[in-house]
Amino acid sequence: MQRILQISDTHLGREPGPIRPGYPDSDHQLARVLEALVRNEPRPDLLWLTGDLAEDPAPEAYTRLLDLLDRHVPGWPLAGLAGNHDEWCELDRAFTSAGHLLDGHRVQGEWVLVGVNSAVPGQAAGRIEPAELERLERVLTRHPAHWAMIAIHHPVVPIGSAWMDRIGLTNPDDLFAVLDRHPRVRACLFGHIHQDFRSERRGVELLGCPSTCIQFAPGSERFALDTEHAGYRMLELHPDGRIDTRVERVPGAGPEEARA
Ligand SMILES: [Fe+2]
Repeated sequence: MQRILQISDTHLGREPGPIRPGYPDSDHQLARVLEALVRNEPRPDLLWLTGDLAEDPAPEAYTRLLDLLDRHVPGWPLAGLAGNHDEWCELDRAFTSAGHLLDGHRVQGEWVLVGVNSAVPGQAAGRIEPAELERLERVLTRHPAHWAMIAIHHPVVPIGSAWMDRIGLTNPDDLFAVLDRHPRVRACLFGHIHQDFRSERRGVELLGCPSTCIQFAPGSERFALDTEHAGYRMLELHPDGRIDTRVERVPGAGPEEARA
């Protein structure tokens, strides 16, 4: 069995501290979630960070991100994705020089895990470029006997929040065309929505993740924060293709702290 942990939307600022007045300190929030992972979960086979890792894509933010990870979860296998707030080249430089994977894929036991880039420079909504779709197709074709899980920053289906659904993935049908050719794809993880979400499409679990920082209120017409705590997603990938998953919240790492 492969144990995967997902954290998302860490939104570290150029400097430590809140990225907006009234928000909690993003660095502090991430540290608390990492402490909870160490306290509550066995060491995973992969910790997957699904984008918006920095609020402003400054090299200093990525350096602090890697320092925090190194301090709290030293030696854990890590993979990352860029979000709309990130700068792909800066993030790639930081991750690859530390020996971590950005996008790319890993074979783990009976599973292949594929990160897919959907970040478009200067744009909140996401798009998967043709070369990235071809890479996904190639990886899945090369591993026909493996179960597959993909991760992407942007949600691949509407989540019922009008403002968020305008800035989701703009070409989901291109992705679904690939997935429909590969029936062993079992799940698609994403970030961006700062909330728990679970749906299903043709046997593929579609799973959203809370942010480690600020939560968005589900079902909102317009941008609205939620009072939920920060959180993470745990997944157990079984050799027969089954997936067990849950979202865990981290008490004390919520917006109350922002007011304190
Ligand atoms: Fe975000």
